[in-house]
Amino acid sequence: MPLVLVIHVLAAVIWVGGMFFAHQILRPAMQPLEPGIRLPLWSRTFARFFPWVWSAVILLPATGYFLMGRWFGFAHAPLFVNLMQGLGIIMILIYLHVFFAPYARLKRALAANDLPTAGQAISQIRVLVGTNTLLGLLTIAIAVAGGH
Ligand code: HEM
Repeated sequence: MPLVLVIHVLAAVIWVGGMFFAHQILRPAMQPLEPGIRLPLWSRTFARFFPWVWSAVILLPATGYFLMGRWFGFAHAPLFVNLMQGLGIIMILIYLHVFFAPYARLKRALAANDLPTAGQAISQIRVLVGTNTLLGLLTIAIAVAGGH
């Protein structure tokens, strides 16, 4: 149980911490760069970050539902766990949308040297990652406060 909980929390830390860094630190720091430099740099950044996010979106529910076993089902789990689960599912759906829609468009646009379309895709990713960062921080707050 403790090992499963550690994996669960490390997955949350890596995913939410990575989004916080990208949105709050890297994004403003990259702002002065020319689009021709900045947009491919974002694409390379995501290419390195997203495999970690894939691990997190698989490990969080896998370990989470394993941990839930101790209440023998959803109906018996405390409210904070059901909130965590609900927010977690929303976060995962948002990530899947980012990966398969705007991120795919970003890669296609950059391959075609279409910087305006790539810029639109990045704007969409920014809004969705900003939303997921807030949801992630809220989920962690609920998980930790609810557990104590
Ligand atoms: C996707 C479905 C998820 C399920 C089913 C789930 C389920 C659980 C369960 C059962 C626990 C143990 C609670 C306890 O034993 O008191 C737990 C702990 C925790 N979860 Fe989740 N979780 C999910 C997603 C997430 C997400 C997305 C995050 C953060 C972004 C998160 C963050 C945490 C944290 C920080 C703890 C540790 C709380 C503590 O012990 O103080 N979980 N989760």
